[in-house]
Amino acid sequence: MTLVSPSLLSADFGQLNHDIDMLNNSEAAMLHIDVMDGVFVPNISFGFPVMKYIQKAAQKPLDVHLMIVDPGRYISQVRDCGAEIMNVHYEACTHLHRVIQQIKQAGMKAAVTLNPATPVIMLSDIIDELDMVLLMSVNPGFGGQSFIEHTIKKTRQLRELITNTHSHALIEIDGGINDKTGRQVVEAGADILVAGNYIFSSPDPKETISKLAAL
Ligand code: DX5
Ligand code: ZN
Repeated sequence: MTLVSPSLLSADFGQLNHDIDMLNNSEAAMLHIDVMDGVFVPNISFGFPVMKYIQKAAQKPLDVHLMIVDPGRYISQVRDCGAEIMNVHYEACTHLHRVIQQIKQAGMKAAVTLNPATPVIMLSDIIDELDMVLLMSVNPGFGGQSFIEHTIKKTRQLRELITNTHSHALIEIDGGINDKTGRQVVEAGADILVAGNYIFSSPDPKETISKLAAL
Protein backbone atom coordinates (compact mmCIF):
# COMPACT_ATOMS: atom_id res chain seq x y z
CA MET A 1 0.00 0.00 0.00
CA THR A 2 1.44 3.33 -1.12
CA LEU A 3 0.41 6.64 0.41
CA VAL A 4 -0.96 9.12 -2.15
CA SER A 5 -0.79 12.90 -1.73
CA PRO A 6 -2.76 14.54 -4.58
CA SER A 7 -1.43 17.98 -5.51
CA LEU A 8 -4.15 20.64 -5.42
CA LEU A 9 -2.11 22.72 -7.87
CA SER A 10 -3.86 20.77 -10.65
CA ALA A 11 -7.33 21.10 -9.09
CA ASP A 12 -10.01 23.31 -10.62
CA PHE A 13 -9.96 26.42 -8.41
CA GLY A 14 -13.35 27.42 -9.82
CA GLN A 15 -14.81 24.40 -8.03
CA LEU A 16 -12.31 23.83 -5.26
CA ASN A 17 -15.00 22.59 -2.84
CA HIS A 18 -16.02 19.91 -5.27
CA ASP A 19 -12.43 18.76 -5.83
CA ILE A 20 -11.61 18.72 -2.10
CA ASP A 21 -14.81 16.75 -1.44
CA MET A 22 -13.72 14.21 -4.04
CA LEU A 23 -10.33 13.90 -2.24
CA ASN A 24 -12.07 13.58 1.16
CA ASN A 25 -13.97 10.59 -0.23
CA SER A 26 -10.98 9.02 -1.98
CA GLU A 27 -8.09 6.83 -0.87
CA ALA A 28 -5.79 9.89 -0.70
CA ALA A 29 -3.74 9.73 2.50
CA MET A 30 -3.21 13.51 2.61
CA LEU A 31 -3.49 16.64 0.46
CA HIS A 32 -0.37 18.20 -1.10
CA ILE A 33 -0.37 22.01 -1.03
CA ASP A 34 2.18 23.78 -3.30
CA VAL A 35 3.07 27.31 -2.22
CA MET A 36 5.28 29.32 -4.65
CA ASP A 37 6.71 32.80 -4.24
CA GLY A 38 7.89 33.73 -7.77
CA VAL A 39 11.48 34.01 -6.46
CA PHE A 40 12.58 30.53 -5.42
CA VAL A 41 10.65 29.18 -8.42
CA PRO A 42 9.56 31.00 -11.59
CA ASN A 43 5.87 30.82 -10.73
CA ILE A 44 3.38 32.03 -8.09
CA SER A 45 0.60 29.74 -6.87
CA PHE A 46 -1.37 30.79 -3.77
CA GLY A 47 -0.80 31.82 -0.16
CA PHE A 48 -2.30 31.71 3.32
CA PRO A 49 -5.89 32.88 2.60
CA VAL A 50 -6.35 30.02 0.13
CA MET A 51 -4.66 27.56 2.51
CA LYS A 52 -7.08 28.62 5.27
CA TYR A 53 -9.94 27.84 2.93
CA ILE A 54 -8.45 24.44 2.07
CA GLN A 55 -8.03 23.74 5.81
CA LYS A 56 -11.75 24.33 6.37
CA ALA A 57 -12.82 21.99 3.57
CA ALA A 58 -10.23 19.22 3.93
CA GLN A 59 -10.77 16.18 6.12
CA LYS A 60 -7.26 14.81 5.55
CA PRO A 61 -3.83 15.94 6.77
CA LEU A 62 -2.23 18.80 4.83
CA ASP A 63 1.22 18.16 3.35
CA VAL A 64 2.51 21.68 2.68
CA HIS A 65 5.37 22.09 0.16
CA LEU A 66 6.91 25.56 0.39
CA MET A 67 8.74 26.63 -2.76
CA ILE A 68 9.75 29.95 -1.22
CA VAL A 69 13.00 31.57 -0.09
CA ASP A 70 13.73 31.46 3.62
CA PRO A 71 10.62 29.45 4.64
CA GLY A 72 11.63 29.65 8.32
CA ARG A 73 9.98 33.11 8.35
CA TYR A 74 6.51 31.59 8.04
CA ILE A 75 6.44 28.62 10.45
CA SER A 76 3.65 29.92 12.69
CA GLN A 77 1.48 30.99 9.73
CA VAL A 78 1.87 27.56 8.12
CA ARG A 79 0.94 25.89 11.43
CA ASP A 80 -2.10 28.17 11.77
CA CYS A 81 -3.26 27.01 8.33
CA GLY A 82 -3.49 23.48 9.72
CA ALA A 83 -0.37 21.93 8.16
CA GLU A 84 0.52 18.51 9.51
CA ILE A 85 3.76 18.33 7.50
CA MET A 86 5.86 21.37 6.59
CA ASN A 87 8.25 20.76 3.66
CA VAL A 88 11.12 23.21 3.26
CA HIS A 89 13.66 23.15 0.46
CA TYR A 90 17.26 22.35 1.36
CA GLU A 91 18.26 25.00 -1.22
CA ALA A 92 16.11 27.69 0.46
CA CYS A 93 17.39 27.43 4.07
CA THR A 94 20.74 28.83 5.21
CA HIS A 95 20.26 27.37 8.71
CA LEU A 96 18.36 24.20 7.93
CA HIS A 97 18.94 22.56 11.33
CA ARG A 98 17.41 25.50 13.18
CA VAL A 99 14.41 25.63 10.82
CA ILE A 100 13.75 21.90 11.33
CA GLN A 101 13.85 22.29 15.14
CA GLN A 102 11.45 25.25 14.94
CA ILE A 103 8.98 23.34 12.72
CA LYS A 104 8.89 20.50 15.27
CA GLN A 105 8.60 22.91 18.20
CA ALA A 106 5.57 24.39 16.43
CA GLY A 107 3.97 20.93 16.54
CA MET A 108 4.34 19.94 12.87
CA LYS A 109 6.18 17.10 11.18
CA ALA A 110 9.37 18.32 9.52
CA ALA A 111 10.32 17.47 5.94
CA VAL A 112 13.19 18.56 3.70
CA THR A 113 12.81 18.74 -0.07
CA LEU A 114 15.69 18.25 -2.52
CA ASN A 115 15.76 19.72 -6.02
CA PRO A 116 16.79 17.32 -8.82
CA ALA A 117 20.42 18.54 -8.79
CA THR A 118 20.91 18.32 -5.01
CA PRO A 119 22.49 15.01 -3.97
CA VAL A 120 20.99 12.84 -1.22
CA ILE A 121 24.27 12.90 0.72
CA MET A 122 23.59 16.54 1.67
CA LEU A 123 21.05 15.17 4.19
CA SER A 124 23.44 12.85 6.03
CA ASP A 125 23.86 15.19 9.03
CA ILE A 126 20.12 15.97 9.39
CA ILE A 127 18.36 12.73 8.41
CA ASP A 128 17.91 11.69 12.08
CA GLU A 129 15.82 14.80 12.70
CA LEU A 130 13.43 14.39 9.78
CA ASP A 131 9.96 12.90 9.53
CA MET A 132 10.01 12.94 5.73
CA VAL A 133 12.24 13.67 2.75
CA LEU A 134 10.65 14.91 -0.47
CA LEU A 135 12.62 14.23 -3.65
CA MET A 136 11.66 16.49 -6.55
CA SER A 137 11.43 14.43 -9.73
CA VAL A 138 10.94 17.62 -11.82
CA ASN A 139 12.32 21.11 -11.37
CA PRO A 140 9.81 22.75 -9.03
CA GLY A 141 7.42 25.45 -10.20
CA PHE A 142 4.91 23.81 -12.51
CA GLY A 143 2.58 20.84 -12.71
CA GLY A 144 2.46 18.53 -15.72
CA GLN A 145 6.23 18.18 -16.36
CA SER A 146 8.06 14.98 -17.30
CA PHE A 147 9.61 12.76 -14.65
CA ILE A 148 13.42 12.94 -14.38
CA GLU A 149 14.69 9.32 -14.50
CA HIS A 150 17.65 10.00 -12.22
CA THR A 151 15.15 10.19 -9.33
CA ILE A 152 14.90 6.38 -9.30
CA LYS A 153 18.58 6.09 -8.42
CA LYS A 154 18.24 8.90 -5.85
CA THR A 155 15.30 7.12 -4.22
CA ARG A 156 17.46 4.00 -3.78
CA GLN A 157 20.29 6.09 -2.31
CA LEU A 158 17.88 7.77 0.11
CA ARG A 159 16.38 4.43 1.17
CA GLU A 160 19.92 3.19 1.89
CA LEU A 161 20.74 6.32 3.93
CA ILE A 162 17.53 5.93 5.97
CA THR A 163 18.18 2.23 6.60
CA ASN A 164 21.81 2.77 7.58
CA THR A 165 21.00 5.59 10.00
CA HIS A 166 17.84 3.95 11.44
CA SER A 167 15.96 7.16 10.60
CA HIS A 168 12.15 7.00 10.65
CA ALA A 169 11.85 9.46 7.72
CA LEU A 170 9.35 8.59 4.99
CA ILE A 171 10.27 9.10 1.33
CA GLU A 172 7.94 11.21 -0.84
CA ILE A 173 8.39 11.78 -4.58
CA ASP A 174 6.93 14.79 -6.41
CA GLY A 175 6.68 15.55 -10.13
CA GLY A 176 5.66 13.64 -13.25
CA ILE A 177 4.19 10.74 -11.27
CA ASN A 178 1.90 8.35 -13.13
CA ASP A 179 1.35 4.61 -12.79
CA LYS A 180 4.62 3.79 -14.59
CA THR A 181 6.95 6.27 -12.83
CA GLY A 182 5.05 5.72 -9.56
CA ARG A 183 5.73 1.98 -9.72
CA GLN A 184 9.41 2.60 -10.47
CA VAL A 185 9.94 4.84 -7.44
CA VAL A 186 7.88 2.60 -5.14
CA GLU A 187 10.10 -0.32 -6.17
CA ALA A 188 13.11 1.87 -5.39
CA GLY A 189 11.79 2.56 -1.87
CA ALA A 190 9.29 5.46 -1.97
CA ASP A 191 6.49 5.59 0.64
CA ILE A 192 4.42 8.54 -0.62
CA LEU A 193 3.55 9.64 -4.17
CA VAL A 194 2.52 13.21 -4.99
CA ALA A 195 0.53 13.49 -8.22
CA GLY A 196 -1.27 16.45 -9.73
CA ASN A 197 -1.82 16.34 -13.45
CA TYR A 198 -2.11 12.53 -13.61
CA ILE A 199 -4.96 12.53 -11.08
CA PHE A 200 -6.90 15.66 -12.02
CA SER A 201 -6.74 15.22 -15.80
CA SER A 202 -7.88 11.59 -15.63
CA PRO A 203 -11.52 10.71 -16.38
CA ASP A 204 -12.00 9.24 -12.88
CA PRO A 205 -9.66 10.93 -10.38
CA LYS A 206 -10.83 8.76 -7.45
CA GLU A 207 -10.09 5.62 -9.39
CA THR A 208 -6.67 7.01 -10.40
CA ILE A 209 -5.86 7.66 -6.73
CA SER A 210 -6.84 4.07 -5.90
CA LYS A 211 -4.58 2.78 -8.68
CA LEU A 212 -1.61 4.72 -7.31
CA ALA A 213 -2.41 3.59 -3.76
CA ALA A 214 -2.29 -0.02 -4.91
CA LEU A 215 1.26 0.27 -6.31
C1 DX5 B 1 5.78 21.20 -8.78
C2 DX5 B 1 4.97 20.84 -7.57
C3 DX5 B 1 4.25 19.56 -7.70
C4 DX5 B 1 3.26 19.51 -8.83
C5 DX5 B 1 3.23 18.10 -9.31
O1 DX5 B 1 6.60 22.23 -8.53
O2 DX5 B 1 5.79 20.73 -6.43
O3 DX5 B 1 3.64 19.16 -6.48
O4 DX5 B 1 1.97 19.93 -8.49
O5 DX5 B 1 2.47 18.06 -10.45
P1 DX5 B 1 2.50 16.85 -11.49
O6 DX5 B 1 2.11 15.61 -10.73
O7 DX5 B 1 1.51 17.28 -12.49
O8 DX5 B 1 3.91 16.76 -12.03
ZN1 ZN C 1 4.87 19.81 -4.59
